[in-house]
Amino acid sequence: MTSVRRLVACLSITAFAMTFSTYAADDKDKKTPTTKEIMKKVPGKNGLVAKTSTAAKDGNWDEAQKDGKELKTYSEALSKNVAKKGDKESWEKHTKGFSEIVTEIADGADKKDNAAVQAGVKKFGATCKGCHDAHK
Ligand code: HEC
Repeated sequence: MTSVRRLVACLSITAFAMTFSTYAADDKDKKTPTTKEIMKKVPGKNGLVAKTSTAAKDGNWDEAQKDGKELKTYSEALSKNVAKKGDKESWEKHTKGFSEIVTEIADGADKKDNAAVQAGVKKFGATCKGCHDAHK
């Protein structure tokens, strides 16, 4: 290879790597839901936690496992988000608690263990106020 060709090859690899990393960053930004979006999806009467709870009670494990997986995706996103209010340490503590409870619900669904799912659902309902007081 002449040095010019080597340089061209090198530049095009760099360009490709740069394009790819920019693309990956954009893609990730689009896919990470905001805290507000997560709060519309996860809690509440028609939220994912309630859906998982009902599916588990009905023994509809395919549905409960699917919802459990989705819950985990949301809890990972929540941990990556930055709180608009409150300090970072407190946010980490609350999002860690959120993620532990969601994991308990999802694992309960994976094991087809309704009691474990409902125990997680009950704990989840007690997390709202602490986090909202500090961060909402
Ligand atoms: C880990 C922290 C955390 C936990 C736990 C949490 N929330 Fe939130 N929630 C927030 C934050 C932060 C906001 C404000 C989001 C914003 O407006 O950007 C919010 C906003 C909301 C909103 C308003 C959404 C909107 O449309 O503006 C609702 C409703 C809500 N939460 C319900 C709940 C309920 C119910 C629970 C418990 C079952 C809960 N949240 C648990 C952090 C949390």
